[in-house]
Amino acid sequence: MLIYYFIAALLAYLFIKRRFYLSKIKSIPSTKSLPILGHTFILLAGSKSIGRFIKTIQKECKRICIVWFGLIPYIVVYNAEDIQTILRNSKEIPKGQSYNFLKPWLGESILISDGQKFRQNKKILVQTFHKSNLLDFLPIFNNNAENLIQNFAKHVGKGEFAADLYLATGAMFNLLGTTLGVHRDILTEEEAFNYSLSVEKMGEFLYTRHIKFWLKPDIFFYFSNLKKRQDHHLNILNNLTDRVILGKKKEFDERKSSSVTKFDKNNNVLFLENFFSATKLNGEGFTLKEIKDEVMTMMFAGQDTTTVTLGFSLSLLGIHQEVQDKLYKELEEILGLSDRDINYEDIQKMVYLGQVIKETWRLFPPINGFMRVPIKDINLGQYIFPKGTPLLCSLFLLHRNEDYYPNSNRFIPERFNSENDKTRPPYSFLPFSEGVRKCIGSNYAMLVVKVFLAKILRRYKVICNQKQKDFKLSLQLTVRRKEGFLISLDPRK
Ligand code: HEM
Repeated sequence: MLIYYFIAALLAYLFIKRRFYLSKIKSIPSTKSLPILGHTFILLAGSKSIGRFIKTIQKECKRICIVWFGLIPYIVVYNAEDIQTILRNSKEIPKGQSYNFLKPWLGESILISDGQKFRQNKKILVQTFHKSNLLDFLPIFNNNAENLIQNFAKHVGKGEFAADLYLATGAMFNLLGTTLGVHRDILTEEEAFNYSLSVEKMGEFLYTRHIKFWLKPDIFFYFSNLKKRQDHHLNILNNLTDRVILGKKKEFDERKSSSVTKFDKNNNVLFLENFFSATKLNGEGFTLKEIKDEVMTMMFAGQDTTTVTLGFSLSLLGIHQEVQDKLYKELEEILGLSDRDINYEDIQKMVYLGQVIKETWRLFPPINGFMRVPIKDINLGQYIFPKGTPLLCSLFLLHRNEDYYPNSNRFIPERFNSENDKTRPPYSFLPFSEGVRKCIGSNYAMLVVKVFLAKILRRYKVICNQKQKDFKLSLQLTVRRKEGFLISLDPRK
């Protein structure tokens, strides 16, 4: 009985709140929605209906739109000027509680926290991911790319296959190697893939809790099937990470008490070392739980994003053979016929490859969008972002805005050559966001993707038989192809 009273009270509260919101957001356009469910039924109905919904938004709402998640309005923003205002006002428009559902997994890590804790941890991470340190990761990336090529070999000349498993495992080994120092020999490919699958699932659960608004309150979530599935995947993630961090901390303490205090990049992991030796603002060291939260955050933020970048790049190159030919020529000029590892000088010369990757990020931004919540009413002249209303910055829609990208659905890497770069308005290309909450992994991602694509394309010609318009897109937290990254391979030599 009590539960019915609770639900009735909750609905009454949401209705009153809805009326309050409506008075403030009436100048912002929306599309047709149902009375209580809002647009939720469309968002749950699958990729075709979401695709149609996106087209309706583009047609009916030029620069901004309300999408109702049940009784809660989310203001979807996809014009460069408003996104600039949002990202430049991080104090008045913080992340709010957008990632709070991930707290059981990521604790108070950099992705979730605000204020002093955020600034202190971000400083350490930005130093760790500085370009000069990333170069030490190149042997790991080269080695993992070589393993991927060997795994691909069994599909050469044998028709279409889904590359997802191989790409996800490669991305996982990269992250495990660079943040935890876990090498391929202590983990099977299957274990690495299962770990990456659990990371992917956690992102899916975060999205589901936002869409299925009835699962938002912890009390309903706690008794749901989703919670059981979340616990299962959390277990997989915790087991490996706990084991590795404990081992590395022991090694660090032993080294500290002996005379060998020097960092040795062949045996120690810079990411962990920086946290083991850093002190917090209160003068204390980081606890193992705090370090683990940051490690998990790197896995979450870096795994799916690099996997889908590789998947979409290969799919698009497989469709646009003329782009692949031009790219192959660039790679031949830089690397000749040798199979040697790729070094930093090579990376710097891979200019056209950089344009291909950026155009892939434009069409299929790995992070579909991100949320902010104003702590006070923000007056933008034409309209208000009311205090407490979620703002959803849609990178997918921003990157397909015809004002910034004519023929926006077409794959044209030359949009990102140095000349065209100058003509694009600020904040119109934001795969990594911008400002104080900008991604720390942008250089890391570019490096990984360049090494992997260069190695794959030198060895194989990639073919994709689907058309871009036929991709069944899953537009959750990350953008993916529902049918998998289907490609086929022919040998180059
Ligand atoms: C193609 C690859 C990647 C893309 C497109 C991407 C994109 C993004 C975006 C859009 C955000 C902002 C999210 C928000 O504001 O809510 C973000 C944040 C973040 N990313 Fe990435 N990311 C990528 C790879 C990586 C990698 C490889 C790492 C680390 C290994 C990483 C670590 C982070 C972290 C820690 C944050 C939170 C930053 C903060 O809150 O200040 N990302 N990423």
